[in-house]
Amino acid sequence: MKVTVFNGSPRGGKSNSHLIIGPLLEGAKQAGAETEEVFLIEKDIKHCRGCFTCWGKTPGKCAIKDDMADLIDLLLESDYAGLATPVYGMYMTGLLKDFYDRLLPLATPHIHRNDDGSFYHKGRVKRFPRLFFIFNSGFPGEHNFDLVRAFLELVKRGGADNVVLEVYRNCGEALGIPDDDEPALGQKISQFRDALKRAGWEMVTKGRVCKETVEQLHMKLMSDEEYMAGANKYWDEATEEAE
Ligand SMILES: Cc1cc2nc3c(=O)[nH]c(=O)nc-3n(C[C@H](O)[C@H](O)[C@H](O)COP(=O)(O)O)c2cc1C
Repeated sequence: MKVTVFNGSPRGGKSNSHLIIGPLLEGAKQAGAETEEVFLIEKDIKHCRGCFTCWGKTPGKCAIKDDMADLIDLLLESDYAGLATPVYGMYMTGLLKDFYDRLLPLATPHIHRNDDGSFYHKGRVKRFPRLFFIFNSGFPGEHNFDLVRAFLELVKRGGADNVVLEVYRNCGEALGIPDDDEPALGQKISQFRDALKRAGWEMVTKGRVCKETVEQLHMKLMSDEEYMAGANKYWDEATEEAE
């Protein structure tokens, strides 16, 4: 059993996304899975050129020579594949979007119609990993996730019936605050990390994540006012120092 997460934050190993992925993979590992986190920022991933060579001239094979062929192999040999990104410009990072676009060789060119009138492309490969998604935002509240939620709805309408977990973590910048600095927050974050471990463990052992665990993953870490006050104070001090 292999669980791989593709981390689309430009901050790589220093990202809040990494702070979320770490415990989840730890739980999966405890359940016996082989785990891997790939920092996309460290990879050579060029933009899709839109040439459709992967659909026409060389079906299933991209014309661009970079790290994507190996990353697709890694994706396909995984049983569970996670895509993680901070919310950037109300959506995902360019890094993850490039990665996602470059999965085009895994789709076939013909257009099919769903019962609900929407359209989709069938997959090319027989065995595709189950998917999970991890989003984290710098804002408190929920509206930051509207576009990525809509993206996932369309992915699912397009036939993806293999999405096992969606994590929408707001107040993302609070995750890096050391537990001892703010004990009440530290306790919440520690509960959040426990829920992540449980999610990873459940994914591997049950093939799904329980409703209660999903609810805990979306627990409120602090009030919107507290988060705003902390963030604004941080930027007041940082900009004062810069002056
Ligand atoms: C270019 C840029 C755009 C951003 N856009 C948003 C946004 O639209 N909504 C939001 O809630 N946070 C936004 N953020 C904040 C990040 O989502 C937040 O800092 C996140 O916790 C970073 O996660 P990471 O450490 O995994 O990269 C943006 C940050 C950057 C650098």
